[in-house]
Amino acid sequence: MSESATPYPYSPGLEGVPAGVSQISEIDSDRSSLQYRGYDVHDLAEHGSFEETAFLLLHGHLPNQHELTDFNNRLGTEREVPDAVYTALQALPPTTHPMDSIRTAFSVLAAFDPDYTEPATNHEANLRKAERIVAKAGTMVANGHRIRQGLNPIKPNPEHTTSENFLHLMTGTAPDPKTAHLLDASLTLYAEHGFNASTFANRVTVSTLSDLYSGIVTGIGTLRGPLHGGANEEAMRMLLEIGEPSNAQAWIDDALETKKKIMGFGHREYKKGDSRAMYLTKIAKALGIEKGNTKFGEIADILEDTMRERKNIFPNVDFPASYAYYLLDIPIDLYTPIFVVARVSGYCAHAIEQLSNNRLIRPKAIFDGPANLTYVPLADRA
Ligand SMILES: CC(C)(COP(=O)(O)OP(=O)(O)OC[C@H]1O[C@@H](n2cnc3c(N)ncnc32)[C@H](O)[C@@H]1OP(=O)(O)O)[C@@H](O)C(=O)NCCC(=O)NCCS
Repeated sequence: MSESATPYPYSPGLEGVPAGVSQISEIDSDRSSLQYRGYDVHDLAEHGSFEETAFLLLHGHLPNQHELTDFNNRLGTEREVPDAVYTALQALPPTTHPMDSIRTAFSVLAAFDPDYTEPATNHEANLRKAERIVAKAGTMVANGHRIRQGLNPIKPNPEHTTSENFLHLMTGTAPDPKTAHLLDASLTLYAEHGFNASTFANRVTVSTLSDLYSGIVTGIGTLRGPLHGGANEEAMRMLLEIGEPSNAQAWIDDALETKKKIMGFGHREYKKGDSRAMYLTKIAKALGIEKGNTKFGEIADILEDTMRERKNIFPNVDFPASYAYYLLDIPIDLYTPIFVVARVSGYCAHAIEQLSNNRLIRPKAIFDGPANLTYVPLADRA
């Protein structure tokens, strides 16, 4: 059936289709801007902390000092996870991608939440669950990384911020303040982004009155793909394949000629550039200069110029995040899980918003298959 022949307005990939009302974040495609609950994401990344952003997303306003201190204390006391989570991760094959590990970890964790039996519509219980989810995500990703290397999990330090906790557990050493600060800014940029595929999938799940954890598991499974969160890992692999700035022009010419998708470029919502990428590019390039490794920034310039001139396509947040994380010595297969550590705050905010005014999300399929066939008994079929 051709699109024009359908009896309903239809937009492939639901492009441009409003799928609900939300007060959590606003993407302005024309101005290439992103606001979380009315605050520009650049201001939040520049002047605030990931914890301030997580509080803003979950509780609806920026915390005052007292509220932030209390929030940080609650996160600090909630960072540890039950041993059963680690036992489950230890049972996975060492080849398991960390995105599958973190998805599994959240499935196990769900049953240990003290509010496990509370109904999905209990707003206060949902907020408590959300804070636990935000607190524990980094612990599970970083200790999951240790387990995959045959190391034992480390106990989180309750004084640590989300990024310090992640780095401490990942490296087994005291977190470097500068690295923690840069990671923190990237977590703020990754925290929330409207009805992207994984957040929408998370809202669909909780709209059945399923629970927050099921929404998180759905979200992580959806984020994993290279057209979504998985792009930051693919972008880094692409940069490593290119290798040197002197190879970049020939590489991108060939890629465009052969109609390859360039990972870390393009966005459904931003056609004039992704403001998060603009912010993170400055950080990533400054980091390259500081570390004496400017080659990824130079390769990036060539890819960006060529994509803009030939395709009018701009980098998205995953492109600068990829080489920023590389320069921070973070293993490539943790890039998308780091996205999870940040984005669970957005998933929870959306799940709570959905559940506070819920209607089952159930769109329509345009049927385009055979109909009214005659059933032939198995014995008579050719
Ligand atoms: C993000 C993305 C899925 C958006 O997809 P979309 O809105 O459905 O847009 P489309 O994939 O239909 O792309 C529209 C056109 O731009 C081209 N395009 C979009 N992104 C491109 C990219 N990264 N590299 C090369 N061409 C790209 C498509 O080939 C298509 O061209 P065509 O009309 O000649 O066929 C897409 O840009 C993409 O695959 N990017 C790479 C993966 C990525 O970085 N994902 C992270 C997003 S935050």
